[in-house]
Amino acid sequence: MFGPMIDGERVRLVPPDEDMLPRFCGWFADPEVTRYLMLRFPPSPKMEAEWLDAIARSQTEIVWAISIDERGVIGTIGLHALDWRSRRAETGTLIGEKGEWGKGYAGEAVRLRTRYAFTELGLEKLTTRVFAENAGSRRALEKAGYRQYGLARRDEWRGGRWHDLWLAEVLRDEWLAAQSASGESV
Ligand SMILES: CC(C)(COP(=O)(O)OP(=O)(O)OC[C@H]1O[C@@H](n2cnc3c(N)ncnc32)[C@H](O)[C@@H]1OP(=O)(O)O)[C@@H](O)C(=O)NCCC(=O)NCCS
Repeated sequence: MFGPMIDGERVRLVPPDEDMLPRFCGWFADPEVTRYLMLRFPPSPKMEAEWLDAIARSQTEIVWAISIDERGVIGTIGLHALDWRSRRAETGTLIGEKGEWGKGYAGEAVRLRTRYAFTELGLEKLTTRVFAENAGSRRALEKAGYRQYGLARRDEWRGGRWHDLWLAEVLRDEWLAAQSASGESV
């Protein structure tokens, strides 16, 4: 499934489309962008087109493109491995435009996705696996309510050494409590 349009203050989540695919391919060819991603080898344009089609048909994946006024599409964000019975999903986030890192866009996109998952989809839990040294990603997730539940030690081999993965989750009740404590409407 493609995610429906969600307007934030500075970012807008929109359904991805074919015109965005060349940009996605460019991001996945850059090792600096993929350093902390599970995807290690750039896909071909044909693979990207097939991926887009598979996402559109999927009942267990929801993907949005992240768009900002000045530049258009700068990244993607999604809910993956959706389990509708146990009401949980895994999450992933990518800001592919390196010039847009550190401007708060991932943080806002993660908060919009979290709200949508709990209030629109009625999910109970979101989980994620992030390279432990990926401080920007961890911070963006923590600000949306994610908390560490474990550390998978020596889980990924990159750049000639092992890396730990930070395992984190956010539960619906805890998110709701944090929203009301901070005066945010749900
Ligand atoms: C990691 C990534 C998602 C962060 O996106 P971003 O838009 O740069 O993040 P934000 O600007 O929203 O920053 C979120 C928080 O982390 C902090 N932060 C960002 N980059 C940081 C860094 N390199 N080191 C420490 N803190 C950092 C920000 O200051 C912000 O905290 P604050 O709100 O308290 O100031 C983005 O760099 C990216 O997509 N990288 C490539 C792919 C990737 O690693 N994806 C994640 C896979 S799990």
